[in-house]
Amino acid sequence: MGTAEKQKELADSSFWKQPEIVALQKQLKSETFRRDYEQACLSIITKLEKLNTEISESLDRNIIDSMEWRVKTSESCIYKLYLKDKELSLNGVVNRLNDIAGVRVVCNFLDDMYALYRQMATDSDYEFIKQKDYVKNPKSSGYQSLHLILYVPIANGRKIKTEIQFRTKAMDLWSDMEHHFIYKKEGLHEKDTEQALRKCAKAIYKLDKEMMNIRRRMEQE
Ligand code: GTP
Ligand code: MG
Repeated sequence: MGTAEKQKELADSSFWKQPEIVALQKQLKSETFRRDYEQACLSIITKLEKLNTEISESLDRNIIDSMEWRVKTSESCIYKLYLKDKELSLNGVVNRLNDIAGVRVVCNFLDDMYALYRQMATDSDYEFIKQKDYVKNPKSSGYQSLHLILYVPIANGRKIKTEIQFRTKAMDLWSDMEHHFIYKKEGLHEKDTEQALRKCAKAIYKLDKEMMNIRRRMEQE
C-alpha cells in the first residue's frame, strides 16, 4: 500500500476503532509508559541548562536561546509506525521509534550547537546511537538541524532512547514556516513552494554563517 492510501486510512475514524489499535493507544497513553520518556527529556534539559550556564559564563554570552521538549502523542506514534510499515505493538513503538522522547535546543549561533554536542559527548552517562547532521547534509526539503539519538539513563535504571535536535534561531524559523506550509501535507502544495523554501533554507545557512563570522571578528578585537 502506498503512502497516500495509508494516510487516507489513518484519516478514517474506523482505523482508530480497531480493537488492537484501541488497546495500543491505551498503553501509549498510560502514565507508566509516558513517565520514563518524560524523565529522560527532563534529565537532558537539566544537563543542557547546566552546560549553558557553564559555557555562557566562560564565553560571556548566552548560547542557548530556548529549549522545548515533548513526549510523542499516542496518535503520532501509531501514525508514524503505520506509515513506516512497522509492527503496530508496544514493542514496535519502543524499538522502531527514535523520537518518543524529544528535546529541541535553539542556539544563537551555528558553532554553539556543535560546542554543546561536544560537551554532551564527553559525558559517559550517555550512549550515542546515531547522529544525523542535516546542517552538513540538508534534507531535500532544505531542512537543517543537528539530530542526535542517544540512550539517557533514568532513576529506575532504564535507558531511554531520546532525540535531541540542535538548531539555530534562523533554522527554527524556517522549520516552523516550512512545517506550516508543507511538512506532512504531502501532495497538497505547489512545487514552486518547495523550491522557494529551498532557496530560503540556503539564504538562512548563509545568514547563520555570516552572523557567526561577525561575532568571531568582534571577539578578536
Ligand atoms: P528516522 O527513520 O529515524 O530517520 O525517523 P525520521 O524520519 O522521523 O527522522 P528525521 O531525522 O528525518 O526527522 C525527525 C524530525 O525532524 C521530525 O519529526 C521533524 O521534527 C524534523 N524534520 C525532519 N525533516 C523535516 C522537514 O523537512 N521539515 C521540517 N519542518 N521538519 C523536519
Ligand atoms: Mg523524517
